[in-house]
Amino acid sequence: MFRISRFSLRAVSEMALAQPRRQFHISMPILQYSDMIYVHFSVPHHKKSMKFEAKDGETLYDLTLREPDLSEHFECACGGIAACSTCHVYVEESFLNKVGEPEEFEKDMIDIAYAPKANSRLGCQIQLNKSLDGMVLTVPSGSKNHF
Ligand code: FES
Repeated sequence: MFRISRFSLRAVSEMALAQPRRQFHISMPILQYSDMIYVHFSVPHHKKSMKFEAKDGETLYDLTLREPDLSEHFECACGGIAACSTCHVYVEESFLNKVGEPEEFEKDMIDIAYAPKANSRLGCQIQLNKSLDGMVLTVPSGSKNHF
């Protein structure tokens, strides 16, 4: 029969403690998920293109509040309540369905905006979401402020 003396048991436990600790490295794939939405602005009359990050649920009005480069070329004079038409933009054709139809009050304001087109929208009424990532908006060469 094999017997472990108290002394040998202590020696074994000390040896175990003296061993360097093993480190386990678990490699996991890094999930790259970004909830950021990128919106491009084209300002042809100033030969300028810009790209801005936005969050889900924001409007173009929200972007103007924190992006001075944008607010230099794109105004939201009424504060985003669809009462001025200064935020009028042309939506890239391939994104029109994703942006959705404007409400009646927005259509009325678009009708009196500067140079309205079939793809016109009020930027303050476009609620951004992931499906609009990469959308290009063109800023008309003029604007009317009805506020
Ligand atoms: S900010 Fe005035 S209509 Fe959009």
